[in-house]
Amino acid sequence: MTRKSIGIIMNGVSGRMGYRQHLVRSILAIREQGGVLLNSGDRIQVEPILVGRREAALAELAAKHDIADYTTDLDAALADPRWEIYADFLVTRARAAALRKAIAAGKAIYTEKPTAETLEEALELAALAQAAGVKTGVVHDKLYLPGLRKLARLIDSGFFGRILSVRGEFGYWVFEGDWQAAQRPSWNYRAEDGGGIVVDMFPHWSYVLENLFGRVQSVYARAVTHVPTRVDEAGDAYAATADDAAYAVFELDGGVIAQLNSSWTVRVNRKELVEFQVDGTHGSAVVGLFGCRIQPRNATPKPVWNPDLREEHDYDRDWIEVPDNDVFENGFKTQWEEFIRHVVEGGPYPFDLLAGARGVQLAEAGLESSRTGRRLDLPELVLPKAKATEAPEAVPAGAHR
Ligand SMILES: NC(=O)c1ccc[n+]([C@@H]2O[C@H](COP(=O)([O-])OP(=O)(O)OC[C@H]3O[C@@H](n4cnc5c(N)ncnc54)[C@H](O)[C@@H]3O)[C@@H](O)[C@H]2O)c1
Repeated sequence: MTRKSIGIIMNGVSGRMGYRQHLVRSILAIREQGGVLLNSGDRIQVEPILVGRREAALAELAAKHDIADYTTDLDAALADPRWEIYADFLVTRARAAALRKAIAAGKAIYTEKPTAETLEEALELAALAQAAGVKTGVVHDKLYLPGLRKLARLIDSGFFGRILSVRGEFGYWVFEGDWQAAQRPSWNYRAEDGGGIVVDMFPHWSYVLENLFGRVQSVYARAVTHVPTRVDEAGDAYAATADDAAYAVFELDGGVIAQLNSSWTVRVNRKELVEFQVDGTHGSAVVGLFGCRIQPRNATPKPVWNPDLREEHDYDRDWIEVPDNDVFENGFKTQWEEFIRHVVEGGPYPFDLLAGARGVQLAEAGLESSRTGRRLDLPELVLPKAKATEAPEAVPAGAHR
């Protein structure tokens, strides 16, 4: 008989990402629409159990959203065969230990990035999951942004000719917390708590670059802490020990050069909070979260450098807006639906813990490059063999139902 629902442990739902993107915009939206439409044509409904450390907060969330199950006992939830997927939105520092337990319990894993704090640990988790035969998924949300979907379409159509380079600007001013509250959690600015913009953003750049342009072969990065003191949620000043800006150059398979700035200490002078310019022999594009503008070579003006003449040409007007031609849903939700299909129906899924480990590899190499001033090559990752004692028996997804 076809299954009607799939149980999902949601750990860290009180957090920014856990609540807004994963619970409300993804799982509850999927529940509201009647579940995930499978390739078979059937629908499978989602059943979340909220997991966290504060029972009262969980009870309030559960009541607010009409969710039957919640617990502060992760081990009990992991031991219960009713829950098939373990999803993790904890602070990065707390993630690896929880993932290890969930893999050992035979759950399918869905997790925020970065998957671990070190490459060694990220690879170990990927190997454990492989040995246990559990399916894994890592959030690759930026690929689902409408702007980047349109960019992928342009690449597939051959619009660019040969792609030469990518220039990206990500960032905005994050308030220091003194005269205006900071709009990001304070742990983001403490290295000892897993913070830092390299650790936060390079995992995104890893999957964006490799899925659109080519695998990252090398990185040169300069990570800086521009604002050394900030004020936390309790109003106390603290030393910002983590980088709040990173200026990096990536060389990709196929010879594409990508140069990406990531900063929480920049004021926005662009159309969107992230913007990439892609230049190719046949055309260029500027894409953001939503927008995508192109300039084909046939419509490229011929500027001549002349400092004696005031600029009269409106370069903005040389660009053509690309139409949506599609309905773009929330990217977190779309990826959740794809992952649930993968868990229920099988088939390849590229955004797994090994892809997550490549993100951690890039962050680690970026920080080392910054420390040493060297450009670093990134070797292709392969999974080490997990030790037999660490590898639990494979529990096929759905075996308990
Ligand atoms: N995909 C994205 O675009 C994106 C954006 C921001 C953050 N993230 C990632 O999402 C994760 C959460 O980030 P956030 O901004 O939501 O953080 P947050 O601080 O808002 O939430 C963190 C959650 O972890 C819980 N938590 C904190 N310390 C814990 C501990 N020691 N043990 C167990 N639980 C603990 C908190 O209660 C909270 O539920 C991070 O790994 C971050 O890198 C991803």
